[in-house]
Amino acid sequence: MSEKQFVPLARPAVGSDEIDALARVIQSRHVAAGSESAAFEREVSEYIGGAPTLAVSSGGAALFCALAAMDVGPGDEVVVPAFTFPAAAQAVVLLGATPVAADVDMITMASTPEMTARVCNSKTKAVVVIHPFGVSADIELIADAVGGIPIIEDAACSLGGFTPKGNPSGTVGTLGIYSFHPRKLVTAGEGGVVTGRPEQMNKVRVFRDYGRTGSGPGDIFTEVGLNFRLSDLLASVGRVQLKKLGDAIERHAHLGQLYTRLLADVPSVYVQGGPLAGRVWQSLIVVLEGDAAPIRQRLIDGGIGVGLAAHALTEQTFYKRFGASWAKCPNSERLAKTTLAMPLFSELSESDVEMAVTALSKALGG
Ligand SMILES: Cc1ncc(COP(=O)(O)O)c(C=O)c1O
Repeated sequence: MSEKQFVPLARPAVGSDEIDALARVIQSRHVAAGSESAAFEREVSEYIGGAPTLAVSSGGAALFCALAAMDVGPGDEVVVPAFTFPAAAQAVVLLGATPVAADVDMITMASTPEMTARVCNSKTKAVVVIHPFGVSADIELIADAVGGIPIIEDAACSLGGFTPKGNPSGTVGTLGIYSFHPRKLVTAGEGGVVTGRPEQMNKVRVFRDYGRTGSGPGDIFTEVGLNFRLSDLLASVGRVQLKKLGDAIERHAHLGQLYTRLLADVPSVYVQGGPLAGRVWQSLIVVLEGDAAPIRQRLIDGGIGVGLAAHALTEQTFYKRFGASWAKCPNSERLAKTTLAMPLFSELSESDVEMAVTALSKALGG
């Protein structure tokens, strides 16, 4: 990439292998959810150590199906991390329940056992734990701290990562989910997968297929549901991408570590999580001392495609309509103001990383 070109925030590594897979499915004329989607499920299952999987149309759909499978509904509360893309909170309100925000750690940006347990009560039907940007939350300790409340493990950004106790990300919660959005390490264009315990997985299977519990004629639509299945077109892309996930994890880790080394020389800036064991580098998030908005604009004007890291749920007044009366989450609110997502994707070059760090340092007045 030459210096004159804009360095984007992300760029999915898709090309001729994915085109060949798509062509094969199109030529077969079987393009809805079918054998490719089933093969994708088997291959994701193998990747995460054999847990059962169901492919769905997005990570958000996966969360919606998972919450529905836990019978979340009106009168229930669901705890969600306060610093995140609000996919889980939106799924909670779609089911008529109330999201409750739990603050996150300033370094990992993940939920902690203490902050999560503090907001649980007798109405808490489920707790969503996110591995933010690929950094593992302390999910085993959170599970202990919330004492038996079911956990939905949002591993949207961390397929291929491991938890602090060495479990594959996404396999510790009662249900776990993954996203295959183009900003993830592996993409299907759009797509998601749910994994987890058999009883809840059976409910997910029914919910993603119009509530159908039988086949043939007769009284077979016995549950609530819609179409959340994953098309064979997208699944075929996901299958090719999954074969390259190991390489993508390695390349992102190399670039993430390079960023971390270079940013160590930029005063008053730190990298989310640092090189923690088990993490994957889905995004590279930097924390500044002050307001990130003007710095972000300066970098974009200078050709570096930085992005917002995430939002503070407690600043989204929309959720008040659904009974959310959460306490302030000071860490999340501070992170929403002070964080930036730096360019990170497999085809990014080392010199692009150097250029991005130099541009950040300059924008900060260094
Ligand atoms: C933590 C987290 N969960 C869920 C989602 C939703 O995934 P999707 O975009 O596939 O719906 C996202 C999207 O970025 C996310 O960051």
